[in-house]
Amino acid sequence: MISKCLFPAAGYGTRFLPATKAMPKEMLPIVNKPLIQYGVEEALEAGCQMMAIVTGRGKRSIEDHFDISYELEHQIKGTDKESYLREIRSLINACSFSYTRQNEMRGLGHAILTGEILIGKEAFAVILADDLCTNLQGKGVLAQMIDLYKKYHCSIVAIEEVPMEEVDKYGIIEGEEIQEGVYRVFNMVEKPLKYESPSNLAVIGRYILTPDIFDILRVTKPGKKGEIQITDALLEQAKSGHVLAYKFQGRRYDCGSIDGFVKATNDFYQLLH
Ligand code: UTP
Repeated sequence: MISKCLFPAAGYGTRFLPATKAMPKEMLPIVNKPLIQYGVEEALEAGCQMMAIVTGRGKRSIEDHFDISYELEHQIKGTDKESYLREIRSLINACSFSYTRQNEMRGLGHAILTGEILIGKEAFAVILADDLCTNLQGKGVLAQMIDLYKKYHCSIVAIEEVPMEEVDKYGIIEGEEIQEGVYRVFNMVEKPLKYESPSNLAVIGRYILTPDIFDILRVTKPGKKGEIQITDALLEQAKSGHVLAYKFQGRRYDCGSIDGFVKATNDFYQLLH
């Protein structure tokens, strides 16, 4: 039903400098796997086979990662190291990858609009690969959201409760709970000050968007930090009651921050040993 997943991956990743000076943030590994590969696995598990990646300058290694490496594969063929590539190889076989470039970093909303050429006129998923999500108890976060989409057929954002001290790092929603953990959104604010925040329900890097979002983004004016914000476009959709917020099952690591990255690394290492 939703077959395409968009990965906005053009950001500079300034919080990870100097590591991200010549290397995409999305290629930073948690243990031995790059962040974006975890995202692609989550999308595939949710039934999306077409990965649409918005890249920028210096992001070539993302394309190379999801491609065959003839020289390397030839070198290790028949050795015990061949098994290390099995997982990525089967992922490449199971998905298709298409790319477009965001020439100017004008914000997440603009990056999503740049991806329109890869998406067309259908509902689609969005994964921000630096938000690494897991659910050890069951379905992945995107799969949970697609289940909800099948019932409501409108845009859905994943949310989690954050401490009030941290609301200024997120898009924050205000809504009416219509079923357990599902809110109909009537207000959204990008990075509000603590005392102005309508709630502590923060939008994280998983979205299902209906394609009318592109027309809205085309006329969305730059907001906070002079960037075109997806929050502003979603607020427009929310005015007609077409945005839900979903408190997902599982855990999110903010791997765009050093603390979240180290936490994810430790937890994933524990899981593997
Ligand atoms: P962030 O706010 O985390 O920005 O973007 P960033 O540049 O990646 O990282 P910092 O804050 O400088 O450390 C959220 C997501 O939106 C994408 C990023 O790649 C990331 O996945 N993005 C952001 C774009 O693709 N283009 C943009 O213009 C802005």
